[in-house]
Amino acid sequence: MTLQLGQQQAISKSELYDQLASQLSSLLAGERDLIANAANSASLIFHSLPDLNWAGFYFAKDGELVLGPFQGKPACVRIKIGQGVCGAGAAKCETVIVPNVHEFPGHIACDSNSNSEIVVPLMKDSRLIGVLDLDSPLPSRFDGDDAAGLETLVRILLASVTS
Ligand code: SME
Repeated sequence: MTLQLGQQQAISKSELYDQLASQLSSLLAGERDLIANAANSASLIFHSLPDLNWAGFYFAKDGELVLGPFQGKPACVRIKIGQGVCGAGAAKCETVIVPNVHEFPGHIACDSNSNSEIVVPLMKDSRLIGVLDLDSPLPSRFDGDDAAGLETLVRILLASVTS
């Protein structure tokens, strides 16, 4: 699949994620704070990937997910593990792609513009740290290329931090 990026030439999703991985590594180099690096990761993703209306993190705390750094409209602060798309990704410790959020049982609507969503778990030493959550106004915005690309970005983030 190719993406048209403003005035730039169309590039493949995998090329775009390769560029993002390189940019993220540079952006996070020299800083080991989780919140700071998650904040810059959310910003880079939100401003680089087309057709997003929300990109950010929830962190696992005391058996629930708590809102972390993000870009987009204000969002619900606490999500129980197992609830909504974020909670499903956290419970399974697997990436979850939802082509149509309105058909997902228990979907938590933070922004009424969202129509599709992807959630990528943050795992460190087999421990759930949190999730990366991306929302799009487009139906079926996310596919396996996004899952692979975002999992790489999450690995870069987790390798950069002390936790
Ligand atoms: N839709 C998510 C909630 C978080 S917002 O999209 C930012 C869910 O169902 O878990």
